Amino acid sequence: MSTESIVPDGEIDRAFSIFFNLKDGASPAKNSTKRHLSDVKQIFVDATEAERILERENPLVYEFYELGIPSHPGDLAFGTSITYPGKVAGEFYMTKGHFHQILETAEVYYCIQGRGFMMMENPEGKWDCQELTPGRAVYVPKRFAHRSINIGDTPFITFFCFRADAGHDYKTIEAKGFRKIVVEGNEKPEIIDNPRWK
Ligand code: NI
Repeated sequence: MSTESIVPDGEIDRAFSIFFNLKDGASPAKNSTKRHLSDVKQIFVDATEAERILERENPLVYEFYELGIPSHPGDLAFGTSITYPGKVAGEFYMTKGHFHQILETAEVYYCIQGRGFMMMENPEGKWDCQELTPGRAVYVPKRFAHRSINIGDTPFITFFCFRADAGHDYKTIEAKGFRKIVVEGNEKPEIIDNPRWK
């Protein structure tokens, strides 16, 4: 007998539980959404280097397991995000990043594997970057766009939770970029101004 409960369709009117693997973040409840370098090449500053890599291979940059929780006010959406280790011209692999369509939405990410940064910025020009290691959680305040960045050499895996009706706004940050980017430094990652920030 399977112990795996299925995520309810439509209105969530009952309790359920699902499994996330602590080693790789995977859940048997849903398939992951995968983003390969060809899908996200535009998020890296050095587009030429991204194209050069793509001539040889198309690595998986990140994937996430989200449950497709119906977007009702009062419900919660949750899942896992896995950003793989790698760099494009010294810039660490990262997620596209997003605002929430309901901008006044906070979110919590809890790190279960790896080492990474959560880069955040709001439309008013404030930014923050918090380091995550296993066991550490970050509170992303409302109004802040957020992006996971893998600064280690193993997968950076987090569990996230936010209000289910918040939606995602990828376009705004795609057009502007984040103010700060994270690149390989001599001894540790460096947070520098994004030369392409608009
Ligand atoms: Ni979010």
